[in-house]
Amino acid sequence: MADDAGAPPAGASAPFPAGADADGYLVVARHGDVPPGTLRRVDYGSEPVVLANVGGRLHALADTCLHAGATLSEGTVRASSVVCPWHAWTYDPASGQLLMPRSTGLCIATYPVRVDGEGIAIGPRRGPAD
Ligand code: FES
Repeated sequence: MADDAGAPPAGASAPFPAGADADGYLVVARHGDVPPGTLRRVDYGSEPVVLANVGGRLHALADTCLHAGATLSEGTVRASSVVCPWHAWTYDPASGQLLMPRSTGLCIATYPVRVDGEGIAIGPRRGPAD
């Protein structure tokens, strides 16, 4: 008697971008592309992402500032934070938490980062949606 063992599971087409592995990780840059203290714009499928190298540690955040939509990758790394180029809203790159102004309680989406040899890969967005 036939069963469904060979059928793909329902919803098998994960919404990962082309080129991503089975866990959704996609190589977006080479390690040398993002020196310490710099930001670099990449894309996770259609989602703009900023890679931030803060003290040698890589982070990935949504690239659109929650305030008025500036491109965070055009901002700066200051101390251990990512600073927006327009009005200096400041984000914790690890958690996405908005540090300044703190009172908003806002948090920008983040992406897990994996370094495989020379490649930097990021996984599916986590944190607050859009
Ligand atoms: S647009 Fe980023 S602080 Fe205003």
